[in-house]
Amino acid sequence: MKQTCIVGTGSCLPVRVLTNEDLASMVDTSDEWITTRTGIKTRHIASAGESTFQLATQASRKALDMAGLVPADIDMIILGTISCEKAMPSCACLVQKELGAVNAFALDVNAACSGFLYGLDMADKYIRNNPEMKILVIGAENLSARTNWQDRNTCVLFGDGAGACVVTGTDQDRGMLASKLYADGSLWELLHMDNAPSLNPELADPDYDGSYIKMVGRDVFKYAVRAMEDAIKEVLAQQNLTINDIQLIIPHQANIRILNSLVDRLGVPAEKVYINVQKYGNTSAATVPIALDEANREGRLQQGDLLLICTFGGGFTWGATVIRW
Ligand code: ACO
Repeated sequence: MKQTCIVGTGSCLPVRVLTNEDLASMVDTSDEWITTRTGIKTRHIASAGESTFQLATQASRKALDMAGLVPADIDMIILGTISCEKAMPSCACLVQKELGAVNAFALDVNAACSGFLYGLDMADKYIRNNPEMKILVIGAENLSARTNWQDRNTCVLFGDGAGACVVTGTDQDRGMLASKLYADGSLWELLHMDNAPSLNPELADPDYDGSYIKMVGRDVFKYAVRAMEDAIKEVLAQQNLTINDIQLIIPHQANIRILNSLVDRLGVPAEKVYINVQKYGNTSAATVPIALDEANREGRLQQGDLLLICTFGGGFTWGATVIRW
């Protein structure tokens, strides 16, 4: 049976860089506080011409180039985002138009920071059914547009960016081996973001105070570490693997302390874990595909390597997948 294989990766970051020192002139914070609590030093912030679909389109073009494909080869576009500028059409449809992917159907996935992994899992299921399909899976965010820039608890954490990959079927002994996804909607209030207020007075939320990210940081931290650890153990067990069999782990890049806790609990050497949160902050659904593209282009992945991806985000949503590269 054919397996689902990643044949191209790409990423795109906005040009403008916001440093911790810049933030210290905006809210009551410091480079020292942000660095020790989060590991983040800089994040990229979108300007004109860098809206979510435009970043996603640039990342997709790079992934297509690497795959040796043209936009008309793509059959489906799945895009994980919580920060597209439009509620309708989907960000994926805007990317389809911008790319000229005229043969693709397109949809968004709202699974917050797990959006790319959810999308990759969906793509795998389509390709198992039709291995000839070529699917673009994207994670793209402009969280700067959904950040309360007066709230030091959140505004230091997030950034903008996009990552993409092209997947298709292969006869080779490589591809997606296993994945396991989860959700727990009962915990939604710990991390959430409202839409624009309802125009139906019956449904209007009297407490509405803006469409930006709100969270209970300590609780999110606790759940994120445990959930990703459990997901990793489950997905490894499905394949009779241990963590020692894995060559590279690409976790969702939320902050360095979550990643360090995960590394400790798994008992893996830190060099097996790809970390770029210091440069980009938390770009939600885009963190994993950006890191995947960087790791790929840096030669961190050799054919045959076992790659483990894990994510955690609002919903809560979380999951893990194992890929033979
Ligand atoms: N600069 C200076 N002080 C700050 C800042 C800041 N940017 N933000 C908060 N503080 C203050 C608080 O006001 C508080 O002050 P007080 O004691 O006078 O009230 C103090 O620092 C401690 O606040 P805590 O919230 O207890 O700080 P904590 O050590 O828990 O760190 C953090 C906060 C970094 C948010 C941490 O809880 C965390 O990493 N949580 C995970 C949240 C996360 O990553 N969310 C992203 C989305 S979810 C995801 O992607 C997995």
